[in-house]
Amino acid sequence: MVFPYKDIVSKASVVLITSLWLLSLSIEAAPPVYLFHICGSNTTIYSPNSTFKSNLNLLLSNLSSNNTPNNLFYNATTGRGPPGAAYGLFLCRGDVTINACHDCVVNASQEIVQRCTTHKVAYIWYDQCMLHYDNRSFFGTMEGSPKVYMWNTKNITEQDRFTQVLGDTMDGFATRAFERSIFK
Ligand SMILES: *[C@@H]1O[C@H](CO)[C@@H](O)[C@H](O)[C@H]1NC(C)=O
Ligand SMILES: *[C@@H]1O[C@H](CO)[C@@H](O)[C@H](O)[C@H]1NC(C)=O
Ligand SMILES: *[C@@H]1O[C@H](CO)[C@@H](O)[C@H](O)[C@H]1NC(C)=O
Ligand SMILES: *[C@@H]1O[C@H](CO)[C@@H](O)[C@H](O)[C@H]1NC(C)=O
Ligand SMILES: *[C@@H]1O[C@H](CO)[C@@H](O)[C@H](O)[C@H]1NC(C)=O
Ligand SMILES: *[C@@H]1O[C@H](CO)[C@@H](O)[C@H](O)[C@H]1NC(C)=O
Ligand SMILES: *[C@@H]1O[C@H](CO)[C@@H](O)[C@H](O)[C@H]1NC(C)=O
Repeated sequence: MVFPYKDIVSKASVVLITSLWLLSLSIEAAPPVYLFHICGSNTTIYSPNSTFKSNLNLLLSNLSSNNTPNNLFYNATTGRGPPGAAYGLFLCRGDVTINACHDCVVNASQEIVQRCTTHKVAYIWYDQCMLHYDNRSFFGTMEGSPKVYMWNTKNITEQDRFTQVLGDTMDGFATRAFERSIFK
């Protein structure tokens, strides 16, 4: 009987290569995970050859360029005032890498115009980033809407402990946010 060690070795290397590949995937590029989008009302429609459209194209290439001054948040304006100006920003989750953020924003800026083909107002959310553009300046103002609720459908195993940790975390978070805020 011949011991099939060749077979075992090759199977082992397949496993190794596969796990290295998975590892490199998880480090290199977590693909952008689309969640939701909202287009403005049908009263905010632009025509294909409007100034707004060309400003929007500039804005999106500006937001998705890989040398924005800030890496995880950036706001930009193209055009000067109404009716043609376009305002936009992206925000990435604080724990994503600069590369993952950039990939997400590139994807978002392409997807958003396919999903909201002629709207002057659009929002798109991903697991890693969000992007919003508008024909009005919305920078530095608190916005409570639109909003989207999403549920994590996984169960908590230790519910009491979870509630405790959640409460402590949110309290600490609120305190820190307040300490850094302009309302102090
Ligand atoms: C907006 O316009 C689109 C395309 O014409 C249409 O499918 C959609 O129903 C409209 N939405 C509303 C709320 O009127
Ligand atoms: C945005 O576009 C809508 C629809 O064309 C218009 O009614 C509104 O006045 C515009 N807002 C600004 C700030 O220009
Ligand atoms: C494009 O612009 C031209 C002139 O600026 C105008 O005559 C034409 O109607 C526009 N076309 C569309 C589809 O808006
Ligand atoms: C983005 O816009 C700013 C301000 O208009 C400009 O200085 C910059 O060159 C633009 N960047 C890109 C990549 O379009
Ligand atoms: C970004 O937003 C700030 C307000 O939060 C504003 O002062 C600034 O002009 C904006 N930058 C651009 C390029 O629009
Ligand atoms: C955005 O990313 C998704 C998932 O990786 C992909 O399926 C989609 O084709 C991308 N969209 C564009 C416009 O590249
Ligand atoms: C979560 O727990 C509930 C109640 O114990 C159960 O009915 C449900 O199937 C569980 N869901 C998942 C995703 O495990």
